[in-house]
Amino acid sequence: MQKKILSVCSLLFLSFLSINCQDQREKKQKQDKETVSLESSFEDDFYVGAALNDGHIDGSDTLGLKLLRNQFNTITPENVMKWMYVHPQRDTFYFDTSDKYVALGNDNNMHVVGHALVWHSQLAEWMNQVKDSAEMATILKEHISTIVKQYKGKIDAWDVVNEALNEDGTLRESNFYNVMGDSYLELSFKEAAKADPDAQLVYNDYNLWKPEKRAGVVRLVKKLQESGAKIDGVGMQAHWSLLGPDIEDIENSIIAYSELGVKVMFTELDVTALPNPWDLNGAAVEQSYEQFEGDPTMNPYPNGMPDSIQTKLAKRYEDIFKLFLKHKDKISRVTFWGVQDGQSWLNGWPINGRTNHPLLFDREYSPKKAYDAVIDLKKKN
Ligand code: XIL
Repeated sequence: MQKKILSVCSLLFLSFLSINCQDQREKKQKQDKETVSLESSFEDDFYVGAALNDGHIDGSDTLGLKLLRNQFNTITPENVMKWMYVHPQRDTFYFDTSDKYVALGNDNNMHVVGHALVWHSQLAEWMNQVKDSAEMATILKEHISTIVKQYKGKIDAWDVVNEALNEDGTLRESNFYNVMGDSYLELSFKEAAKADPDAQLVYNDYNLWKPEKRAGVVRLVKKLQESGAKIDGVGMQAHWSLLGPDIEDIENSIIAYSELGVKVMFTELDVTALPNPWDLNGAAVEQSYEQFEGDPTMNPYPNGMPDSIQTKLAKRYEDIFKLFLKHKDKISRVTFWGVQDGQSWLNGWPINGRTNHPLLFDREYSPKKAYDAVIDLKKKN
């Protein structure tokens, strides 16, 4: 009898223990779901960030801000700091919106990026009229020193020059280049360093995985270094797709840039699953893309991506982040070009009026399969 009572007691005790363990496990899983984030998962590896638009900066996108605070630790302004907005006239600087952007980052202890000081696109029109090299040098110095000083100690990293290269690695014939030759590059980096010696200075561009363009970046960075200019990083924009670029090409660029003694940043990451005009036979890039507007074959997922494509996107992001982790010693930041799919510029580019799904959060601000795939990489480690 005594034996029986004893074994019933131990059974009860064991099942109490197992229920308790299960409770603990469930509690832990729930906590993980609430506390695990991109920021926390990669905190020992690199910053993870997002590009911000007006809704974040003016506070109206409350759900976006919540996601931002929970998930990311670095920000980049998607548009508000571009030349046409901050320096719209020769003698007018407009800082109201960018002040708010910078305050948002500083108040939340984020790594704040400035984008972009010198770029041929979204430039104020008056600047394209400047044809005298001494005048251009004066304006560039004023432009850079005024803006960088405004945020000295508040902006941590600057995209000093954006997209100075052609696809074959030669220098783009922007108005800056046509008027000043390649001297505008050295001048820009030197002026930025003078205005805030502690800010990280970055050269930023797209398609930097391409071997010919890679060689162009290497030449550009070496030339800057030889001139005594400070350059701290190469920003690979990373507007990619399900189909490419190959991981190996990206890897070769990470290694090549890092060998120059600078950090590599992935500054504008997004992965499109939609067809692009240049993937189509016979659709030359120089063609106008307006002809594709409203064409349903170019906009296959207007009501959401099917699960099979979500899975492909998740796999692609997994491969990309595996590579980032492999080279985390060389990479200082990974920034997504937007917080959630509904806000992505890829809904309007290169074809207007499409529904794209290139980020880790959907239009309801919910994490997608691709988010889980990226986070899971760290759980396995
Ligand atoms: C894009 C913005 O996302 C759009 O809202 C804007 O209309 C055009 O510019 N490379 C860059 C970014 O460096 O500044 C661009 O941002 C995307 C390509």
